[in-house]
Amino acid sequence: MSESLDLAAFPADFTWGTATSAYQIEGAVAEDGRAPSIWDTFSHTPGRIDNDDHGDVACDHYHRWPEDIALMKRLGADAYRLSIAWPRVVPGGDGPVNAAGLDFYDRLVDGLLDAGITPNVTLYHWDLPQALQDRGGWTVRETAEHLADYASVVAGRLGDRVTQWATLNEPLCSGWIGHLEGRMAPGLTDLTAAVHASYHLLLAHGLATRAVRAAVPGAQVGLVTNHSTVEAASTRPEDIAAATRMDGHTNRWWLDPVYGRGFPTDMRELYGVDLPERPGDLDTIAAPLDWHGLNYYFPATVTDDPRGPVPYAREVRLPDVPRTGMDWQIDAGGLEALLLRLTDEYGVRRLYVTENGSAFADTVSPDGAVHDPDRARYLEEHVSACARAVRKGAPLAGYYAWSLLDNFEWAYGYDKRFGLVHVDYATQVRTVKTSGLRYAEIIRAHRESR
Ligand code: NOJ
Repeated sequence: MSESLDLAAFPADFTWGTATSAYQIEGAVAEDGRAPSIWDTFSHTPGRIDNDDHGDVACDHYHRWPEDIALMKRLGADAYRLSIAWPRVVPGGDGPVNAAGLDFYDRLVDGLLDAGITPNVTLYHWDLPQALQDRGGWTVRETAEHLADYASVVAGRLGDRVTQWATLNEPLCSGWIGHLEGRMAPGLTDLTAAVHASYHLLLAHGLATRAVRAAVPGAQVGLVTNHSTVEAASTRPEDIAAATRMDGHTNRWWLDPVYGRGFPTDMRELYGVDLPERPGDLDTIAAPLDWHGLNYYFPATVTDDPRGPVPYAREVRLPDVPRTGMDWQIDAGGLEALLLRLTDEYGVRRLYVTENGSAFADTVSPDGAVHDPDRARYLEEHVSACARAVRKGAPLAGYYAWSLLDNFEWAYGYDKRFGLVHVDYATQVRTVKTSGLRYAEIIRAHRESR
């Protein structure tokens, strides 16, 4: 219960929120002028997604957003992290703006503010307009420039009410998983494409940071990245070197350039791909940020894998450790360690946990409730890890639980449920899970203590 959580560690103005993203919840993919994104294409390619699921309807949030805001209010959340669908706002990727697309987000933001909930808006959560993919997607520089133009449009419209902005969500996933591993859109398995995509994503982040600041005086701009702690599977020098490579691939490749250190030399050598660099890019990428968002789910333990794919380090599956329904190892200590690393090694001055959560196979019980003690435990353990990090000096300003709702979990489709609120996809009935009620209790307990 809340007594066992060190809620006093958190500052009085600590933000408690939930998070979602556009393609995972909105549905209405062909309404009001929205054009296809790479995720529409990918999910409609047979065999790419479990059960061949897709986001055509998802949680129908496009129509049910007032009900979803009411759910946030029920949880007592202060804030909501959402993403804007680029293909709704600028359907062609560049060029004409779709007024109806912008109007949707306008209404949503007003609805949130009326409910006393602060929006934290992510500009790019993976749904690249397909029209831009057809012209090279993230492998070409123009896409980064188009993201900045689209950012100006969105910030120009919402910036009178939205101060919290994130440029990108998890470029590691859109870069590496989408272009190197092929498990996410656009589904490529090409090292050169992946390295170039990762570079242009970071460039896009820098250009969009500038665009939002130009459009919104006083904007608080951040970047959301996902990280794992990386351990060697043994004390063998080969495994220790593998862990350094995996740390470079997963963590340093993204953080070093953003925090002014340039791209890590060891990783440049390992990839052996020339970066599409131009003078001034590194300064653009390293634009000082107002905050950093950490998405954390699991740690990694790796062994040397010289014949495997880059970075020649393979994750090993530890026996006898707790796991979620994604088969991801549960280790809240990893969250504490990463918050402290961002603080101490990268000098981040304002941090948010922008995502953290767990999937389990939830069902609605005959009593009408959704009992998910494993998710409630995961939540408590990770909130405790945040409290420990704060006690040790991490400037943590908020925590956003992933996710408000069960939703389209990318290549895993709808079977993996991350919500604090259960969604029955046949009826679109929402049911707050016991973990959601627990989160509401935590929020209330912290509020009452401040
Ligand atoms: C990270 C992503 O940002 C989000 O879209 C995804 O659903 C969660 N992790 C869970 O995998």
